[in-house]
Amino acid sequence: MTLRKNILITGASSGLGRGMAREFAARGRNLALCARRTDRLDELKAELLAANPEISVVVRALDVNDYDAVFEVFRAFNDDLGGLDRIIVNAGVGKGQPIGTGYFYANRKTAETNFVAALAQCEAALEIFRAQKSGHLVAISSISAMRGMPRNITTYAASKAGFAALAEGIRADVMRTPIKVSTIFPGYIRSEINEKVKKTPFMVDTVTGCCALVRAIEREPAKASVPAWPWIPLGFLMRNLPLSVVAKMG
Ligand SMILES: NC(=O)c1ccc[n+]([C@@H]2O[C@H](COP(=O)([O-])OP(=O)(O)OC[C@H]3O[C@@H](n4cnc5c(N)ncnc54)[C@H](OP(=O)(O)O)[C@@H]3O)[C@@H](O)[C@H]2O)c1
Repeated sequence: MTLRKNILITGASSGLGRGMAREFAARGRNLALCARRTDRLDELKAELLAANPEISVVVRALDVNDYDAVFEVFRAFNDDLGGLDRIIVNAGVGKGQPIGTGYFYANRKTAETNFVAALAQCEAALEIFRAQKSGHLVAISSISAMRGMPRNITTYAASKAGFAALAEGIRADVMRTPIKVSTIFPGYIRSEINEKVKKTPFMVDTVTGCCALVRAIEREPAKASVPAWPWIPLGFLMRNLPLSVVAKMG
């Protein structure tokens, strides 16, 4: 398997992005990290370099909903590190309310950030990978993408299902090339996105979850539910149970 030395992670200022950055830094990888909260990125960079002085870490401000900036920042990171071997499209939001209850602005923000901005990131990533004829694109979807979901996560689940379909289409497009595409479906991993969610039996802490994510990403699978237990069987149930049962989830 190719060693992916230079790794770009979007949404690296908290949660899974920051946790994966820590795991990859410990594995000796160079990192390109972006998000809107640059104070957090600066702190993270200092922490990673103190623990792993042999690696390079570059940080840049990026709002992924500023589509032009997505292309500019990805190209700048490519120049900073002299190439990008893996790009992890991770930035995402979990805001939302039931459809038709007056919260179009929140649902639209979720749809735009998790799907349209993810498309912009995939476009910018593939431009780089096609030019260098190699690279690993990682799409961070969600286990909620397995099925249409009720209540506050209806738009979130739909945006993540759309993103998973987009990544699968890109995988089909580059299938006979050295470019690889992985779609990751995380289960519940503690982060800011679910800080108000009460502890559930299936929630793992951030370090455990990010360790499992990085192990899965390094295998470069087409698709992976992470952590595998209990999310592979639960994902199967979500896809196959009657909607009346799925409607009680989420
Ligand atoms: N945690 C889970 O259980 C779980 C499960 C399934 C999927 N996921 C997915 O995993 C990804 C990471 O989520 P998380 O759990 O780590 O949540 P989080 O702690 O809230 O982190 C979200 C990250 O996305 C960034 N982000 C949000 N909007 C952005 C924007 N407009 N421009 C640039 N960056 C933006 C945030 O950075 P700034 O605010 O600094 O910009 C932050 O770094 C998301 O795509 C989420 O849907 C998480």
